[in-house]
Amino acid sequence: MNVDVSSADPLAVETDLLCWMVTEESTGVSGLGEDHALAPAVRQSLGDLRGRFAKTTAVANPGGSPPRMLIAGLGPGSKITADTIRHVAGAISKRAQELGVARFAVVCPDVSGVDPGDAAGQITEGCSLALYDFDAYRSKKAEAEPDLTVVCGADVAGAVARAVARAVAVSDGVRFARDVANMPPNECPPAGLADVAKGMADEKRIKCTVLSAAQLSEGGFGGIMAVGKGSDNPPRLIVMEYGGGEGPPVALVGKAVTFDTGGISLKPGEKMDEMKFDKCGGCTVLGIMRAAAEVGLPLNIVGVIPSVENMPGGGSYRPGDIVRLYGGKTAEILNTDAEGRLILADALSYVEERFSPRCIIDFATLTGACIVALGCNVAGMVSDSDDMAASVLLSADRTAERVWRLPLDEDYMDMIKSKVADIKNLGTGRAAGTIAAAAFLKSAIKDTPWLHLDIAGTAWMQPASKKRPYNPPGATGFGVRLILDYLGRIAPGR
Ligand code: BES
Ligand code: MN
Ligand code: ZN
Repeated sequence: MNVDVSSADPLAVETDLLCWMVTEESTGVSGLGEDHALAPAVRQSLGDLRGRFAKTTAVANPGGSPPRMLIAGLGPGSKITADTIRHVAGAISKRAQELGVARFAVVCPDVSGVDPGDAAGQITEGCSLALYDFDAYRSKKAEAEPDLTVVCGADVAGAVARAVARAVAVSDGVRFARDVANMPPNECPPAGLADVAKGMADEKRIKCTVLSAAQLSEGGFGGIMAVGKGSDNPPRLIVMEYGGGEGPPVALVGKAVTFDTGGISLKPGEKMDEMKFDKCGGCTVLGIMRAAAEVGLPLNIVGVIPSVENMPGGGSYRPGDIVRLYGGKTAEILNTDAEGRLILADALSYVEERFSPRCIIDFATLTGACIVALGCNVAGMVSDSDDMAASVLLSADRTAERVWRLPLDEDYMDMIKSKVADIKNLGTGRAAGTIAAAAFLKSAIKDTPWLHLDIAGTAWMQPASKKRPYNPPGATGFGVRLILDYLGRIAPGR
């Protein structure tokens, strides 16, 4: 989707469809006087719509300019949140696409308490993310994406242009994360994922190193090697370094199991196809790195993505095995389907040792238990840093990528103690499965502030997911907007 900004009078903007957002209290639309020829038609549509949330009504202007207008409801003005405008913009963009227009314009709503820059960013994100359609493998391609013009007052044009440029970069990061996550597992083995990462990194001038299976074996990455053993597609570790500022980097780590059958502890067949999305954590890291480089975030960031395929076979690791993780701890395997924590433990220990980062954030479709606990609209968050947790919660509010913090203290660490090894890859029965998995990750880190996001419920659209126009079917790219907002606030001079 192409986007531009105009601070012209709305009715003078050259477009095929001019769109306004109105609240339940609105009595008119900005830039259209009572004496204007179109005023009666607009007034009637306003009355029909009554500002109802995410509903739209078209106003025809045959032979005129613009040829069509659209009014969209924001609901009651007092209930507008950081997500209302993004949601309604998404609905507008889908309507524009259905109408087959080449370009549409959205006027920044004039609602008290709504910052025009924030609104412009939300409009851009809502439209770009709603128009996304994964059609790479379909003969019938998606309908063309119409171009967007964001219309605002001349006094705020500078701030709006900056917000729109940032939102384009962020949305492109989300779309990239979705594109990779939606790839079918036969087309995206670990080596293929590494190639995709390298291609993006080259384009954005990010340094990218890929460790081969031989290097991982040599380097002592016992968790990654064990999980990868059952597959003919050997594992990889993708290491990306973005240098945008001073000091120690922020480390981002993402689970990328390109397909999770469960291994010898085989999963049931039902919905097993969805385990192509078990690489979503890694894809989130890719999307964040891409957007950070695009906006030139003044920070150093390192992204580490352990990638394996978890398959059953004659070479597979087994329940009962004991493996030596990166850094030397031994782990008893009790279920080969608890593979994510094993590959992440290696990656977390490695990133801490190699880069001495200021903090570590990891993303993983780690536990079905997270869906049992929180459903599909809220990610599980576990952190040993109250500061990081509070700050990410603020970003969750701003981006509507919701998170809920779960506890992790010494009592929980007992759950992963093993009788025969240092730790085990299962907790205690079905108790606190998400926290038990997080405890395993925590044990891989010495003393760097760490925050873990379990995105099992939120990484792709599932039956229990709340439907929103900007989250079409398939991967959502969850975490990209959330953590870019967080990084934008911890970066200097912002
Ligand atoms: N990738 C899965 C978790 C998952 C399941 C995410 C369903 C999204 C939807 C993970 O590797 C896994 O299989 N976890 C097991 C852990 C268990 C064996 C302790 C699970 O959740 O059942
Ligand atoms: Mn698994
Ligand atoms: Zn998994």
